[in-house]
This record gives sequence, structure tokens and C-alpha cells, in this order.
Amino acid sequence: TPAMAPPVAPLAGEDGWDRLRTEVAGCTRCGLAAGRTQTVFGVGDTQAKWLVIGEAPGEQEDLRGEPFVGAAGQLLDKMLLAIDLPRASVFIANILKCRPPGNRDPRPDEVGCCLPYLTRQIALLRPTIILCVGRIAAQTLLATDTPIGRLRGQLHRYGPLQTPLVVTYHPSYLLRSPGEKRKAWEDLKFARRTFEELTATGSAR
Ligand code: URA
Repeated sequence: TPAMAPPVAPLAGEDGWDRLRTEVAGCTRCGLAAGRTQTVFGVGDTQAKWLVIGEAPGEQEDLRGEPFVGAAGQLLDKMLLAIDLPRASVFIANILKCRPPGNRDPRPDEVGCCLPYLTRQIALLRPTIILCVGRIAAQTLLATDTPIGRLRGQLHRYGPLQTPLVVTYHPSYLLRSPGEKRKAWEDLKFARRTFEELTATGSAR
């Protein structure tokens, strides 16, 4: 019989994570590759039930290779702890794995190149709930132009598994507009309550 190339089977578990990590680390799909110190894959528990999604690495994240380690990250950690989620208990990722120059908004072509990585992260993690922080994450995953003020405060569904998804403000925005923290707190409580309901009914894994 002729020798056949082994099929490239989708990998589950840690093998799938390792393959994806390696791919992201060497990515040159868009122009952001040229300006980065390193990619920022995401961090946390690969068995986490919560997935937190931000926008893109900033300067500190580009230097350290980890999401949300700058000023916004310190506030994000506090926001998560307020609903009993230590940073290490969740998985944290961004829409973009590379830092846009000067922290400008991601461009649609960059999002198009990078989003498949996040889609694979979500497929591997199979989170019970997704928390989108900020307009970019929310509008990208929900494929909408609706302003974040109208996306927050309600339960959305994402992707092939119709994963529950909740939206709140980005911690960088809250640092600039502390008067909005009250609404973010409502969103976080809503997300926590939604998670408890999902896990209590036995409908989540
Ligand atoms: N802002 C984000 O959206 N993500 C990070 O990782 C850091 C800051």
C-alpha cells in the first residue's frame, strides 16, 4: 500500500493548546508582526469556566508577553475579584495577539487575520461564560456595530455552542470615566448571577 501522509486531525486538550501557542508565536499574518516584541497568546487556566476577552496588548503586555499586566490589568484583576474570580481561575485573552502601534484601535484586516486564533482558543476552552471587556471585543464577537452601552446589561450567545456572553466596559475606559464603574459593577454581578444559574440548572458542563 502507498505511504499516506497522516491526516492533520484537530487536537483536543493540551496538544491542541500547544499547537496553537506555537502557531501564534510565529505568526506573520498581518503587519503588526513587524512591530511587536512578542505575541501575547493569553494566560490562565486552560480548564477555566470563565473566558475574559479584551482588545489588544498594550506596551506592558507587549514587553511581558502576558495580557492585562499594566494599569488596566490591575483594575481588571480587582473587577474579577469583586465577583470571586482570582486572576488565575479564569482564562484571559485578547482579540489581537500583537500590539497595535501607539495602542490605536485594531483595523478590520488585523482582526480578520487574528480572530481565527481566538475562535480556536474558545473551541479548546469551551467556557461556560464569556465576559467581553470593552467595545472592540463585544462588537467583534457579536458581529455588530451596536454601541457598547446597548450591548451591556443583557445576555448574548456566541458561536457554534451558543456560549453565554456578557459585555461590560473596558478597565481602561473605567480609569478615564470612573463615573461608569457603577454600571460595570452591575454588569459583573449580572455575569456572576448568570453563571450561577447556568451551573445550577445542570445545563453547563
Ligand atoms: N488592554 C487590553 O484590551 N488587553 C490587554 O491585554 C491590555 C490592555
